[in-house]
Amino acid sequence: MKNYKRYLITSALPYANGPIHIGHLAGVYIPSDIYTRYLRMKGVDVISICGSDEHGVPITLKARKEGVNPQEIVDRYHSLNKKAFEDFGIAFDIYSRTSNKIHFETASDFFRTLYNKGEFIEKSSEQYYDEEAGCFLADRYIVGTCPHCGNENAYGDQCEKCGTSLSPNELINPHSTVSGSKPVLRETLHWYLPLDKYEPWLKKWILEDHKDWKTNVYGQCKSWLDQGLQPRAVSRDLDWGVPVPVEGAKGKVLYVWFDAPIGYISATKELTPDWEKYWKDKDTKLVHFIGKDNIVFHCIIFPAMLNAEGSFILPENVPANEFLNLENDKISTSRNWAVWLHEYLEDFPGKQDVLRYSLCANAPETKDNDFTWKDFQARNNNELVAILGNFVNRTLVLTNNYYNGEVPARGKTDSNDDAALNEIGRIKENVESSIEAYRFREALKEAMNLARLGNKYLADAEPWKVIKTDPERVKTIMNIALQITANLTIVCEPFLPFSMDKLRGWLNFNDLKWSNAGKSDLLETGHSINKPGLLFDKIEDEEITRQIDKLLATKKANESASTKTVPGKEPVNFDDFSKIDIRTATILEAEKVPKTTKLLKLKIDTGLDIRTIVSGIAEYYEPKAIIGKQISIVANLEPRKIKGIESKGMILMAEDKDGKLVMVSPSGKVSNGSMIK
Ligand code: MF3
Ligand code: ZN
Repeated sequence: MKNYKRYLITSALPYANGPIHIGHLAGVYIPSDIYTRYLRMKGVDVISICGSDEHGVPITLKARKEGVNPQEIVDRYHSLNKKAFEDFGIAFDIYSRTSNKIHFETASDFFRTLYNKGEFIEKSSEQYYDEEAGCFLADRYIVGTCPHCGNENAYGDQCEKCGTSLSPNELINPHSTVSGSKPVLRETLHWYLPLDKYEPWLKKWILEDHKDWKTNVYGQCKSWLDQGLQPRAVSRDLDWGVPVPVEGAKGKVLYVWFDAPIGYISATKELTPDWEKYWKDKDTKLVHFIGKDNIVFHCIIFPAMLNAEGSFILPENVPANEFLNLENDKISTSRNWAVWLHEYLEDFPGKQDVLRYSLCANAPETKDNDFTWKDFQARNNNELVAILGNFVNRTLVLTNNYYNGEVPARGKTDSNDDAALNEIGRIKENVESSIEAYRFREALKEAMNLARLGNKYLADAEPWKVIKTDPERVKTIMNIALQITANLTIVCEPFLPFSMDKLRGWLNFNDLKWSNAGKSDLLETGHSINKPGLLFDKIEDEEITRQIDKLLATKKANESASTKTVPGKEPVNFDDFSKIDIRTATILEAEKVPKTTKLLKLKIDTGLDIRTIVSGIAEYYEPKAIIGKQISIVANLEPRKIKGIESKGMILMAEDKDGKLVMVSPSGKVSNGSMIK
C-alpha cells in the first residue's frame, strides 16, 4: 500500500434548497467526519472540504415558487445547513459555497482550459422551451403522457409509474410544470464533454486499478461503463449559475454537475494558499464521501474532467453509501418525511452523539437501511447507557469514593488483568483497520467492545466486594478500569466527540493522540480526576411516541393532500349523456393477456350478447377471483383492437387517489343488461 503524505477529504456539497436530514448525515457526513477525526488524531496532514451546492434548476424553481430571488433561497439554507453541521460536530475545515467569487473564477478557468484544449464538442440541438416562462425546460420539468403505460404524469426523463426512462420528445401531450403551457422546440447551442473518448481510460482506471472500491460503487461504475458512455452536455440555458465563459454564450451557464465538484477545488483555495499541494501532488490521497446517487458524477464524470484538464490528482477512493429510509419509507423532502437536524436538536438538546451513534450503527454501508425511533431508543438505552455510560460511571464514581479521585497505583497483575490490558491494544488495531477500510459500523462496534470489555472486567473483578477483604487488590483493579476509560476517550472520539470531550474533562486527560490508544499507562498514579456527571441518560417511551406521532401526522397530512379530486368536467346535456349505453354485465371468464402486465381478457355476459372486453386491471384483480362478478360497462364504445384482441366496450372503474382501479358494481343483484341511468 502506498504511503501518502497528506489527505484531502471531500463530502458531497449539499444543495442549498432544503435542510439537512438524517439520511444526509448517515450516508455522507458522519462517515467523512469519523474518517477525518481519526486522521487528525493520527497527526497526519488532512483537510476536510465541504460547502453548499448553490446552483441547479431546483433552486431557481423554488425561488420562482416563493417569488424571491434564488440568492435568497441559497442564503437561507446555506446558513441553516452550515449551522446544523457545526451543531453536530461535523469537522469540516471549511464549509464554503458555490456562489462565491472564488468559485466562479475557478469554475470558469476550468471550463476555459478544457475549451482552449479543444476538449469540448460544440453542438446545436432542439430543446423544449417554455414561451410563457421564457426559459428552456430541464427534462424533469416537462410532464406528459407516458407512451408505454398511459400515465398522464410522466416526467421528461422518466415515467415513475412504469419505470421506463424517457426523453421529453417521447411524451404525449407534453406541458411545462413551470407555467403549465405547451412547450415548443427551439434550437440551442451547448458544449459537450465527450465521455466516450475517456471510456477506455476510465475502464482501466476503475475496472482494473480500483477493484478495491466498495462493491456497490464498483458495480455501478461497471454498469455505466458496460453500457457505453455518451458525450454529455456541460452547459444549460439558465440565468442562475456560472456563466459559460466564452463568446456567444449569453444566457448559458455551466451545468450544475460541472461546476459543483469544482467547488471542492474552490473551497480548498479559499481555505489555504497552499491548495495546490492538496490537489496536484501525487502524494495526496483524495477521498470523496458521497451518497449512491452521486456515484456516476464522482467516479466517471468528474474524473474525466480532471483527466482532461490534466494537472489534478484523481480520487483514490469514493466510499459511497446507499440510502437510509425512515420508518420503512423513503426519506423525502417534498413529503416532509425526514428527521431534520435542526428539529432533532430542539427535541433532544445536547444529544448529538446519540443520533451520531445510532446513524453510524445503522449506516447504509452496503445496502439501503432503515432508521426507526424504536431502534434509536434501544441503541441509546441498551448500548450507550447500559454499556458505555454504565462502565464509565462505575469507574469514575468508585475512584472518587475510594481514592478521593486520585488514580491508585497498579500492583501485581493477575492473568485476568493481563488479558484485559492486552485486549485494549487489539481493539485499537481493529478500530483502526475498520476505519481505514471505510467500514464504520464495524469500527464503532469494535470501539464499543472496549466498553464491553471494561464492564466485564469490573463484573468479574467485583471491586465493590473485594474492597472489604483486599483493598490493595482493588487499587490494581481500579487502575486498570481507569486506563480502559482513558482509552475509550480516544477510540470513541471519532464517533462520539461530544461525550468523549466531556469524559476527558472528568478524567482531566487531554492527550488526544491516536498513537496513545492501546497503552495501559495513560493515567499516571496519583493523577487527579474530577467528579463525573452522567454520560448518557435513558430515553423514555413518551419521547419516542412523540416522534412517531409526529411522523404519523405527516403521513396523514400527505394523504389528505394527495386525495385532491380531479376537477369537475364541463356540463353535458341529457341527450349527450343518454347516448352512452351503460349497463350491468357479469364476468364469465378472465385470463391474463400474454406478455402484458396490466391487461386481462374478459368474457362478459351483457344481457345483449356474450362478448370480449380487454381491461387494464390485471395489477388489481386475480383472474380467478372475479369470475361471476357483476360489473358495469359502457356497451356502445367503439370496438378497439388491443394487443390483437378485439375489445368491445369498457369496464367502468373508479380510480383511487394512488391510481389503483376498483370495479364499479351494482350494490344489489340485478339482471345482466340492466340500464344504468
Ligand atoms: N448537490 C449534490 C447533491 O446533493 C451533490 C454535489 S457534490 C459535488 O446530490 F461534487 F458536485 F459537489
Ligand atoms: Zn409509463
